[in-house]
Amino acid sequence: MKIPRLLQAVLVLAAVYFGFILVFDIILDAVIPSSLLAMYMFFAAAGVFMVFTYDEEQTRELVAPIKALVEDPSKRPWRNIVFVILPLAVGGGTYMQMQPSFEAPLELRTIHPAPPSTAKIYGKRVNLLKLENPLRKIEKEDPEQFRELVNEGAAVYIRNCQYCHGDKLDGKGPYADGLNPTPLNFQDVGTIAQLQESYLFWRITTGGPGLPKEAAPWISSMPVWQDFLKEDEVWKVILFLYDYTGHRPRSWEHE
Ligand code: HEC
Repeated sequence: MKIPRLLQAVLVLAAVYFGFILVFDIILDAVIPSSLLAMYMFFAAAGVFMVFTYDEEQTRELVAPIKALVEDPSKRPWRNIVFVILPLAVGGGTYMQMQPSFEAPLELRTIHPAPPSTAKIYGKRVNLLKLENPLRKIEKEDPEQFRELVNEGAAVYIRNCQYCHGDKLDGKGPYADGLNPTPLNFQDVGTIAQLQESYLFWRITTGGPGLPKEAAPWISSMPVWQDFLKEDEVWKVILFLYDYTGHRPRSWEHE
């Protein structure tokens, strides 16, 4: 019995496909990247197509089953089945590919990327290297008024931040479990204790979308607070973060 030409072509391509995978798996001991496999298979398919359509006789033989399926009245039930299954399969495949994945990206995340030297915050270009918390000096000048500011910062925090960063500032707010990357734990010495107040100001006002490229492709849920809070509210909440955790902000050494 002679194998139909179309089936022959399909079998050759299948052999090439598994050949590639085997060569990579056994000889190179590596997984073949899907983009590379797609490229190889494209060239293999082009080659097979050229060989199988070498002359008119062969071409006719190759497409005969397809032609019969579309035109032959006796193949009608098959035609109906194929024309239902094919679009469904393509649609299903596309759906599976487009579905968002909840797997973490392969790249490592830079938790504290270097800030830009300037950033546009509240419509102004701010020099982050020189920026200081305008309320910090009150800590020494007027401790009582400073307490007041910290309390106002606490109110800003409870209203806006504790859902994610937690009422103990430990990053365990009620929403935290659903987020990746997780909200940062300000009690930990690896977060605000290492940072300057200007860095916090930049991160709070510009949020996840303000992060530079090296923090991508992770998508941080940290909101852009310059859209919701006033500038002095941000400085006050920063006072509160340091006051509550007992950390001191990093600062340039003053002589
Ligand atoms: C929807 C959840 C959510 C809310 C609400 C939220 N944050 Fe965040 N925040 C995050 C996540 C997630 C991160 C960690 C990823 C990142 O660095 O962007 C983060 C990071 C931060 C950082 C960076 C700390 C560091 O060590 O780099 C600061 C500062 C911060 N948040 C302050 C705040 C303040 C202040 C508020 C309230 C005004 C707030 N956040 C509200 C989710 C949230």
